[in-house]
Amino acid sequence: MATVTIDGYTIEVEDGTTILEAARKIGGEIVPPTMCYYSKLKGSGGKCRTCLVKVAQTSAQNTRPMPKLVASCSTPVQDGMVVQNITSPEVLETRKAIVEFLLINHPLDCPVCDQAGECDLQDLSFKHGVDTSRFDEGKREFDIIDIGPYVKLHMNRCILCYRCVFTANQITNGRIHGVLYRGDASEISTFIKNSIDNDFSGNVIDVCPVGALTDKTFRFKSRVWFLKPMDAHRDCPTCSGKAVVWMHGDDIYRVTARKDQYHEVEDFICNTCRFEKKSTSDWVIEGPRKIMRTSIISVNHYDKEKQGSVINPVAKKIQKPAEK
Ligand code: SF4
Ligand code: FES
Repeated sequence: MATVTIDGYTIEVEDGTTILEAARKIGGEIVPPTMCYYSKLKGSGGKCRTCLVKVAQTSAQNTRPMPKLVASCSTPVQDGMVVQNITSPEVLETRKAIVEFLLINHPLDCPVCDQAGECDLQDLSFKHGVDTSRFDEGKREFDIIDIGPYVKLHMNRCILCYRCVFTANQITNGRIHGVLYRGDASEISTFIKNSIDNDFSGNVIDVCPVGALTDKTFRFKSRVWFLKPMDAHRDCPTCSGKAVVWMHGDDIYRVTARKDQYHEVEDFICNTCRFEKKSTSDWVIEGPRKIMRTSIISVNHYDKEKQGSVINPVAKKIQKPAEK
């Protein structure tokens, strides 16, 4: 076991735990934001730099700080490590720069984007972004393409987090899409124009942190904040059948997987549940879904249990965070 202190909270975690996972065990505002890491997907993380933190003390034996900020999603803790996230002005300043960098090639088309209201980049920009950009060059532009019968790809909005590629790799049988080319020419594409048409392909929509992969059965039907998310289940032979149905009156506008406070899917769902069961008689409606994160979809919806408010009682708060 290793004892780690993050922003003044101390917790004991298993050896090999990353700083990010240790922070999630503590909970609350001190948890670094993520755009590419996804705890359910092996190998994810290390692409976006959103989760950078300062290691003020490397370990009990080595009390020196690490020379640069590190990606918390891929740096394991060491016993006696002291980490600063929101208590480090350097981290907060760098996070602003990361948001500016992510927005270099991301269009500000939130008013027409289906992901608006539940977009991780929108939330990140709101919290950490600056209201100006120093980028004068033209943004990358791509045609909108269909990938499979249910999914549309807006490559303009893609931040190349690789989550969809890992999803296709790990939860469907056979990867047929990936990242082509390098640097700012990189793009998501299906191999030789194959479409993604296996039973779990719709999950790429849920893992996409922005609006690059959208649900063709829901596109432009409604803004998400006008809908009521309800926990629902059905007896499904392919997946757990546990989902969230997004309702307007008695109509189901879309079906998604259930997501936790880090906006990660709890159980991946199959395409039949997601795309073909849009009638209330298909589902047993359990009741309103708690939205456990700070986002516009949590506004005016039932109980507001915000991500920033829950600290694990096991984590001990020390008087003053170490400063190096
Ligand atoms: S399409 Fe979405 S999930 Fe896939 S790499 Fe781009 S931003 Fe990430
Ligand atoms: S979440 Fe850690 S680098 Fe992207």
